[in-house]
Amino acid sequence: MKLILLGAPGAGKGTQATRLAERYQIPHISTGDIFRANIKGNTPLGMQAKSYMDQGQLVPDEITIGMLMDRIHEADCSNGYILDGFPRTLAQADALDSKEEVDAAVNVDVPDETIVKRMSGRRVCPKCGEPYHTKYKVPAQEGICDRCGSELIIRKDDEPATVLMRLEVYHDQTAPLIQHYGNLNKLVSVDGTQELEAVTQAIVQALGE
Ligand code: AP5
Repeated sequence: MKLILLGAPGAGKGTQATRLAERYQIPHISTGDIFRANIKGNTPLGMQAKSYMDQGQLVPDEITIGMLMDRIHEADCSNGYILDGFPRTLAQADALDSKEEVDAAVNVDVPDETIVKRMSGRRVCPKCGEPYHTKYKVPAQEGICDRCGSELIIRKDDEPATVLMRLEVYHDQTAPLIQHYGNLNKLVSVDGTQELEAVTQAIVQALGE
């Protein structure tokens, strides 16, 4: 299965992608996580991406498209993948659509007011990327990732002013993809304000299971 997860920053794409990847046994590919791993490793790609990410802007298409297309051609994607955070512009969608036939684009729909509240409580694992929340998804041991035991951090781009910029960029450049995949009859929309498990069930049902 080849899936795209659409949705505003903080809508729960990463949270749902982890669950769906386990369920369908396909890799979860987050362009944000790939960039963050490169920043941590001080690679040339990381250096290029960092200034855009810190400001809540998109990394340019010329960098992002090639990186993603290389990743989905790796061996673990032979049975499909879940894309979290890609495509984010019409140019990225066109590049993907010209090479790949995705099964569905799932829009996790959450209003901006809820997003701002969620981001203020988010904690993430810097090693495996697993997202947590101080109220909605608390780790078994405070401040420690359940999956890999690393110490959780607050993402730099979760500062309130950067979150507002990311939302503005989302509405301007990424939200048009909802109509794009609707026109291709690939769009599935779910109410992302429900609790975590209910959102997963809504996606699975919408995908026809
Ligand atoms: P990226 O890492 O992709 O960030 P994002 O899309 O802004 O999404 P987030 O990771 O912030 O949120 P999410 O939807 O995954 O929500 P989560 O599950 O964590 O991108 C970061 C940056 O990288 C971009 O700004 C850009 O600069 C660059 N970039 C990445 N891809 C790019 C591309 N294709 N092109 C150009 N640039 C790119 O959930 C959020 C919080 O809510 C968590 O605390 C979670 O526990 C909680 N939560 C989740 N679901 C629920 C629920 N149902 N109820 C209550 N709480 C919930």
